[in-house]
Amino acid sequence: MNQKGLLEKEVLALLDSARMKDTSYEKVLSAMCTRPHPIAVKAHMQFIESNLGDFGLFPGTKELEEKVIRIMGEMYSDPNACGYITTGGTESNIQALRIARNLDHRSHPNVVVPSSAHFSFDKTADLLGVEIRKARLDSEFRVDIDSVETLIDDNTIALVGIAGSTEFGQIDPIEDLADLALSHDLFLHVDAAFGGFVIPFLDKKYTFDFSVSGVTSMTSDPHKMGMATIPAGGLLFRQDTCMRPLEIDTPYLTIRKQHSLAGTRSGAAVAGAYAVMMHLGREGYKKIVDRCMKMTHRIVQGANELGATPLIDPVMNIATLDVPELDKIRKELRAKGWFTSVTREPRALRLIIMPHLGEETIEKFISDLGECIRKFQ
Ligand SMILES: Cc1ncc(COP(=O)(O)O)c(C=O)c1O
Repeated sequence: MNQKGLLEKEVLALLDSARMKDTSYEKVLSAMCTRPHPIAVKAHMQFIESNLGDFGLFPGTKELEEKVIRIMGEMYSDPNACGYITTGGTESNIQALRIARNLDHRSHPNVVVPSSAHFSFDKTADLLGVEIRKARLDSEFRVDIDSVETLIDDNTIALVGIAGSTEFGQIDPIEDLADLALSHDLFLHVDAAFGGFVIPFLDKKYTFDFSVSGVTSMTSDPHKMGMATIPAGGLLFRQDTCMRPLEIDTPYLTIRKQHSLAGTRSGAAVAGAYAVMMHLGREGYKKIVDRCMKMTHRIVQGANELGATPLIDPVMNIATLDVPELDKIRKELRAKGWFTSVTREPRALRLIIMPHLGEETIEKFISDLGECIRKFQ
């Protein structure tokens, strides 16, 4: 640290030069986050001092958090769901399985997840000391129920289903998982970190939430397709499941107990999430999802014409394309400024069509993809 502080304008210049190195999202087709909605940014700034880790000092922000959980509970068919705003999908997944583990006292607990599960479950396993068992996927990249059933044993404490898988944007058969969970008396967590703000607004209807009896908890992230500021994840529990197994005594705060993983936590992100949800409403989110889906279908159509076939018809705003010479093509696309990613098994080009993209960008991407494919034909 400098002995003497710098002038504000000098510090701002340092920030500007760092910011210049960041991407501006324009050519990013690999991210599950996007530019937050301007109203979320305004709300975030208004609540910048607020710390929900000690919410006795910030009862107004705490009310907003309760309202956000209520709005999300309504979206997921249980207006009385309880929960809190986490730092994101990772914290939500850890905390959900922490409840499952704390409710059950087996000495070598295991959890069965789809092999498409996000790597946050590997972190969860490491932190909680639970074994993660990965179930096979079917030909459409949904979890195979027979494989899940085979992996369940006397030490299984929970099952996980994904509603909007990170790589394929696929939705697991949540009702079948719930039947299994109920028949084996297991906790069922649905990870809709990405899908939570997409699936309710798709034209095709899916049952993936608390309307399915047997679903115990859900992850759904406002800071992904919810257009909120980072860090805003959502963790919800069915109304009659409480968060008591997470509670820790907090002797020197204005509150007596804390259930979050983080101690100090952002009230600003909660205000951002509340503002954007109130401002967009269901109609606003539907428009965003419709637009992303239209662009996703256009990319798939354009890629098909170039001979790059999709692994599945897109369910959500993620396209996975079987392209020849994948690594070379990605390198070439990168040279043209595009950020793309890959799926692991099978390896394919993975494109996430987020709200920061526009129709012109999509056309430019298709044309650049065409050039790259022709170069290696
Ligand atoms: C399905 C799913 N779950 C969990 C996560 C983790 O979310 P975060 O990065 O907000 O911790 C992601 C992130 O992409 C995800 O796609």
